[in-house]
This record gives sequence, structure tokens and C-alpha cells, in this order.
Amino acid sequence: MDNNATAQASAKKIILSGIQPTGVFTLGNYLGAVKSWQQMQEEYRCYYFIADLHSLTIHIDPAKRRAQTREAFALLLACGIDPEKSLVFVQSHNKCHAEMGWIMDCCSQFGELSRMTQFKDKSAKHPDNINAGLFTYPALMAGDILLYQADYVPVGADQTQHLEFTRDVATRFNHNYGETFKLPEGYFPKAGARVMSLQDPTSKMSKSDENPKATISILDEEKVILKKFKSAVTDSEASVHYSEDKPGVSNLMTIYSAITGKTMEDITKEFEGKGYGDFKDAVGHAVADELRPIREEYKRLLADRAYLDEEMKKGAERATAIASRTLTKVKKRVGLLLES
Ligand code: TRP
Repeated sequence: MDNNATAQASAKKIILSGIQPTGVFTLGNYLGAVKSWQQMQEEYRCYYFIADLHSLTIHIDPAKRRAQTREAFALLLACGIDPEKSLVFVQSHNKCHAEMGWIMDCCSQFGELSRMTQFKDKSAKHPDNINAGLFTYPALMAGDILLYQADYVPVGADQTQHLEFTRDVATRFNHNYGETFKLPEGYFPKAGARVMSLQDPTSKMSKSDENPKATISILDEEKVILKKFKSAVTDSEASVHYSEDKPGVSNLMTIYSAITGKTMEDITKEFEGKGYGDFKDAVGHAVADELRPIREEYKRLLADRAYLDEEMKKGAERATAIASRTLTKVKKRVGLLLES
């Protein structure tokens, strides 16, 4: 890069986000997050990582965790996150995260961590494993964000409290030790869609749903996708229009709109006089067409282990180079004696 290009590149705002490696992404993860991560690559400097340290708060088989981490990395690339344009890495491959996490722990108050709704929800869900990591999870996440001086963090509604917490910790740190961190803001992409369950359209589409008909995995085959849309819950009115009291049809319209770029009015017009059968079929095909190349690329990438390992290694090196600058500054600020 010449000087001009470097200056231009550094003028770009930094976007950072992480995703846990807990199973194949759903259409909800894709349309709600990863598709817009891909679209933001031109406009922003993007840092995306697999949050494997955060996943340790849930107990799963170690071999499964290893496989899921590799799969999640491959999925990001298959969804169009380009390692030439964006920084893509695995959180635990950059040791700065664990180190910064401890420092952030010591800057977090018991009271504020106790108020986190995700901690309360998760401890109610797993009463047999309320580990300390579950409690300090937001401090590790604050470290993830602050290490990279991120401007924007695209997160779903379930993570906005953690982002607020990050800003609180950063503000306090800057106040106590001098200006160190940029305050990150939430980023809510225009195209981001909130995709609901196909069987209970009042709740969010979730990887962990026990009813397989409720979720579309981004690796589902075309036949399966069409079938799931066919059996999606709608209502008895049989008219395609968007309304709060028609959550099923509205959800399908959201999905169709996120993929085709059509507005709700366009969609209503397109299906005027037609039944839900035709509409569901069109949504199913649009989804299948969108996911086909991703599925094929994913299979190709997973089979190319050497390439994935190489990309992970490059990502880890770049991430470490960026994060260690902030970490060194933080260590100095809090009075840790640096090695000479
Ligand atoms: N907690 C996030 C989730 O489960 C994942 C995550 C970890 C994250 N660190 C992050 C997201 C930093 C954004 C920024 O969805």
C-alpha cells in the first residue's frame, strides 16, 4: 500500500463482532448478522472472530468444541467474509484476550455483573453449572471490544446490555487511568432482519430449538428448505401483508425481503390474489438459492484443512499485532511492571 492508501484505510471506522462456535448458523444468524457483516467489508475495517473462550462457559464435549470452532471459521468464509478484506480469527489464538479479560474482571463490579439479564437467564437454564466464567462473561467481552478500539459493534438485542457494560467499564477506566479506550457504539445494520421461528413466529429462530421444523440451518439441502417453508405456521386469512397480528406471514415476508431486497409493499403486490402456498414456495426457493453457494463453498473449505489452518494462523498473527498495542498500554496504565 502506498501512503495515501494507508491513510485512507486507516480513516475507515472499525467494526468488530464475535460469534460463538455452538453449532451450525441458522438462517436467523445469517440474515440477522453474518450477511450484513459481509456487506460491511467495503465500507469499514472489519474484525470478526469465533468466540471460543466465551463458549467455554457451556460444557460440551471437547472434540465437538474443536470441530465446531473450525466449522464456524469455515462458515464465516463461506458466507463471504473475505480474509483479504477483513480480519478473521479465533479468539483463543490471540492470547491478549485472556490477559485483557482478567484486567477487565478487576475493573468490573459484582453488582453490575449481577444485573446482567443473560447471566440470570443462563444460570436459570443451567443450574448445575453456574460457573464464574458465566458471571464474568461480559468482562471478557468488554476486553474483546476494547482491545481493538472498535468504533462499532453489531450485536443482537440479547447483547446490547453487554455493550452498555463495555462502555461503562471503558468510561471508568479512562476516568481512573487517563484516556485509553474509544467508546464503542452499537451498530444496527439497515438490512439486518430479525428472523423468527417457523413454528412459533413469536419467538426468535434459535440453533437450540428442539423442533427441527422451526429453524433453517444454513447448510440445509434445498428439498429440506422447501419442506420446512411449506409447513411454516401462518394464519387462516391467506393474504400476504405485513402486520403485527400476522406474525407467521410477516416473518416469511421479512425473510423474503432480506434476501430479495424487495419492500413489504412490493411483496404484497407480487402475491396479490395468490394463496399462501405460492408465497411459501417463493420464499423457500429464494432461501434455497441464497444458501446453495454458501453450502457448496463450506463443503469445499472444510475439505481443505491446510487452507483453513493457514488462514487461522494469519488471522491470529494480525489480531495479536493489533491487540497487543492496546494491551501494553493498558498494562502500563494499571501499573503492571513491563518486562524489559
Ligand atoms: N457474546 C457474543 C454472543 O454470544 C459473542 C461475543 C463475544 C461478542 N465477544 C464479543 C460479540 C465481542 C461482539 C463483540 O453473541
